[in-house]
Amino acid sequence: MTHAEMHAASQAPASLPSDKELVMRVMPMPADSNMNGDIFGGWIMAQVDIAGSVLPARLSRGRVTTVAVNQFIFKQPVSIGDLLSFYATVERIGNTSITVRVEVYAERNPADVQVVKVTEANLTYVAIDREGKPRQIPR
Ligand SMILES: CC(C)(COP(=O)(O)OP(=O)(O)OC[C@H]1O[C@@H](n2cnc3c(N)ncnc32)[C@H](O)[C@@H]1OP(=O)(O)O)[C@@H](O)C(=O)NCCC(=O)NCCS
Repeated sequence: MTHAEMHAASQAPASLPSDKELVMRVMPMPADSNMNGDIFGGWIMAQVDIAGSVLPARLSRGRVTTVAVNQFIFKQPVSIGDLLSFYATVERIGNTSITVRVEVYAERNPADVQVVKVTEANLTYVAIDREGKPRQIPR
């Protein structure tokens, strides 16, 4: 393989989004699975909560806390060994809050890569000060 071919082969599959920001990647482990052998939904919710906070923390230049999970949809099961990519888009910037849409894609079967959208969610974060009180989002 030439260097150019190796570089091309290491690129993310074409079906991963290119119009949204990749905020986190993680691979679930056997300890994150439920009694069906799939990944536990609560583990995915925790990862989405972390990934969703990335843009609000950047935009508010400080601490944020989750005030609401407005929507959470598990579209497809997640399996051990899936590489999960979390993409975020800002949907609304309020006075002290930022609402974000998070979409999670799984890359599976490295021999013949398949990309599947597994989860989508909508969460609201509030920028907080040292006392945990809401603070203005800087403009
Ligand atoms: C988040 C928190 C600081 C907000 O304090 P508050 O006194 O209720 O603040 P406000 O009523 O002024 O609301 C602040 C912002 O949150 C928004 N908000 C409040 N409740 C909301 C809800 N259910 N859904 C969406 N947005 C909501 C408000 O619209 C406001 O946004 P804006 O300023 O952009 O218009 C407070 O509720 C808190 O500490 N909650 C616990 C957070 C936490 O610990 N999360 C981790 C999980 S346990």
